Amino acid sequence: MDWLFGYIFSVIRISLLSSLCCKFLIDAEAGIVGVNYGMLGDNLPTPDKVILLLQSRNITRIRLFDPNPDALKALDGSGIDVVLGTLNDDLQRLGSDPLFAKNWIKINVVPHAKTIHFRCITAGNEVVPSELAVHVLPAMKNLQMALKAINLTIPVSTAVSTAVLGTSFPPSQGAFSTEVSSVMRSITAFLAANKSPLLVNIYPYFAYIYDQNNILLDYALFNTTKVVVRDGTLGYKNLFDAIIDATYSALEKVGGASVDIVISESGWPSAENGDIATIRNARMYNNNLIAHALGNSGSPKRPGKCLETYVFAIFNEDLKPPGTEQNFGLFYPNMTEVYHVSFYP
Ligand SMILES: *[C@@H]1O[C@H](CO)[C@@H](O)[C@H](O)[C@H]1NC(C)=O
Ligand SMILES: *[C@@H]1O[C@H](CO)[C@@H](O)[C@H](O)[C@H]1NC(C)=O
Ligand SMILES: *[C@@H]1O[C@H](CO)[C@@H](O)[C@H](O)[C@H]1NC(C)=O
Ligand SMILES: *[C@@H]1O[C@H](CO)[C@@H](O)[C@H](O)[C@H]1NC(C)=O
Repeated sequence: MDWLFGYIFSVIRISLLSSLCCKFLIDAEAGIVGVNYGMLGDNLPTPDKVILLLQSRNITRIRLFDPNPDALKALDGSGIDVVLGTLNDDLQRLGSDPLFAKNWIKINVVPHAKTIHFRCITAGNEVVPSELAVHVLPAMKNLQMALKAINLTIPVSTAVSTAVLGTSFPPSQGAFSTEVSSVMRSITAFLAANKSPLLVNIYPYFAYIYDQNNILLDYALFNTTKVVVRDGTLGYKNLFDAIIDATYSALEKVGGASVDIVISESGWPSAENGDIATIRNARMYNNNLIAHALGNSGSPKRPGKCLETYVFAIFNEDLKPPGTEQNFGLFYPNMTEVYHVSFYP
């Protein structure tokens, strides 16, 4: 009988192992792509409908800008992983009052801790540089302490825009601006010590529109197979990679060589800026962006590194400032596609 048990055990073990390996391989091969759930619209569907829409499209990650209770409820048990943000308006209290941070976790995270996998919690969005920037690290520390106290291991970070970069070209010269370098150095030390990623909002669209004389549209749209920019031994075929590598360079200069980057936002508007913000260009950019992330090619500086990427955004949002800002959505508020994007390789 012993051999039989031994045999059965090893079969079970082998199948467990192979399913683990498979999961690992699928994750490693498929890359990670999610969407930003912006809610600045007065005509958007309810969160339960939105989550069903995402599930029907195989979208397995979402970023919330604030702990919207209805959205969190709809995400319970959905299998969709969540990047959860705090309101910028809460940063000062989160940073100065550990009890407020503890309560924030108790109210927004604890009730969902068994039903939602939280990918990370972000203290604020695009507040460096601003007068709120000094509160970011204290808020991160208090949130992390509150999580640790109840044995929840969820990375804590913040999301920055590329306005933190004083130099972004060539990528190897990337550096934080003098204005933010001290605050970014402290944040980076915290991230490195806790092995947490920095979340960065990366928009080749904005880089392109402010420097059209020097940047090719195809380079911004991932629509070239040729190296467009050479930087030492590295060759760049798209602006997205160049911006990411400039950010890695900036992190390296403040002791963050080990810190990973998560692309918390990227996207392209489909209307309201002539020939640049068109459905054709938005479709091309976002499909190429997703294929780039799913392909796990990394960037020239970190080839093969997984670039977890969150597309901005699910919906066109009519309460944002008029113009392109209202037209970053993959879907209209009535849930029909603005253009088709494939979230599956
Ligand atoms: C979702 O993924 C499944 C495989 O798991 C695939 O068969 C299906 O076509 C995908 N659906 C969409 C809308 O991409
Ligand atoms: C957290 O884990 C530690 C060590 O395993 C344990 O002593 C403690 O009681 C746990 N705390 C809570 C709130 O679960
Ligand atoms: C660039 O865009 C054109 C027009 O849509 C398309 O035919 C071509 O395949 C694209 N090239 C690359 C490298 O994506
Ligand atoms: C959804 O909204 C868009 C934009 O307003 C419109 O063009 C489209 O016809 C609508 N689709 C449906 C099914 O109502």
